[in-house]
Amino acid sequence: MQNEKTMTDSNTTTISNNRNKPAMPSFRRGKNIVAIASGKGGVGKTWFSVTLAHCMSKMGRKVLLFDGDLGLANVDVQLGLMAKRDLNDVIRGRLSLSKVIQHYEDGGFDIIAGRSGQASLSALPSQRLSLLRDQLLEVADDYDVVLIDLGAGVDRTVRMLSASATKTLLITTDEPTSLTDAYAFIKLGNAAGMSKNISVIVNQVSNTDEGQKTYKTLLRACENFLRLKPPLSGMIRQDKKVKDSIRHQSPILTKHPNSDAAEDMEKITRRVLKELSVAAQMIASG
Ligand SMILES: Nc1ncnc2c1ncn2[C@@H]1O[C@H](COP(=O)(O)OP(=O)(O)OP(=O)(O)O)[C@@H](O)[C@H]1O
Ligand SMILES: [Mg+2]
Repeated sequence: MQNEKTMTDSNTTTISNNRNKPAMPSFRRGKNIVAIASGKGGVGKTWFSVTLAHCMSKMGRKVLLFDGDLGLANVDVQLGLMAKRDLNDVIRGRLSLSKVIQHYEDGGFDIIAGRSGQASLSALPSQRLSLLRDQLLEVADDYDVVLIDLGAGVDRTVRMLSASATKTLLITTDEPTSLTDAYAFIKLGNAAGMSKNISVIVNQVSNTDEGQKTYKTLLRACENFLRLKPPLSGMIRQDKKVKDSIRHQSPILTKHPNSDAAEDMEKITRRVLKELSVAAQMIASG
């Protein structure tokens, strides 16, 4: 890993084609919505989202997990669910968003499933996307917390869903490409006016020191080039039990409740719930 290295602004090439996108208007923000994002794909967003939902539910919160990766949905796949209805029915105008919510009994939370491989979902016209966002904000009133598992990158869908959230948790690993893409997400998010509440989760760390170094590499780049200081919301150790639970399509808190990763997720969940209530108070007080 490049822990001892520093990042330069010019190495954020991977998803930088959106660099000069105009600022988006500020959206109505849900006070209880958390978006889970990453620059690079495959860093653990979906696993994290599912586990966060499960953990929050175990802590007594009423939670909805929305599969916002419109092109490559996979929340239902990780949990082995057969979704009878999904976002496609909403996009096609057949059902309202509240009608495609399904309860995930084992985890005690609700899910809105996406439709994998549905290219048309990832390329929704802006108007449809705004309608979807508005319905989500409405549905969110019935929950303590709504989590959105976003697609990788910073496309229009990701920007809009992230902008409607109270806060965005940005997942990175110590891989240089993951870090530079996380930096690009913060940079573009800043340009689009949605970065104020981004905090960082470092996933798959070998130990706490390495995780801190990874975070500091990202932090330094943000301070130097963007004058931003995204806080660290936590880190999760690399743990073979993560893969094992995904392979068994069973949540880690059920399959391996005493694993390192489960322990780290509990810590993060407590912290995120605290951060969320502070952010919601700030929104409420204008
Ligand atoms: N803490 C961890 N320890 C070990 N492996 C992990 C950890 N977190 C994630 N993984 C591995 O990373 C893989 C990818 O996870 P996941 O599908 O949740 O990523 P993603 O960011 O949602 O990907 P995509 O961008 O394709 O949607 C998992 O299959 C799992 O094996
Ligand atoms: Mg995913």
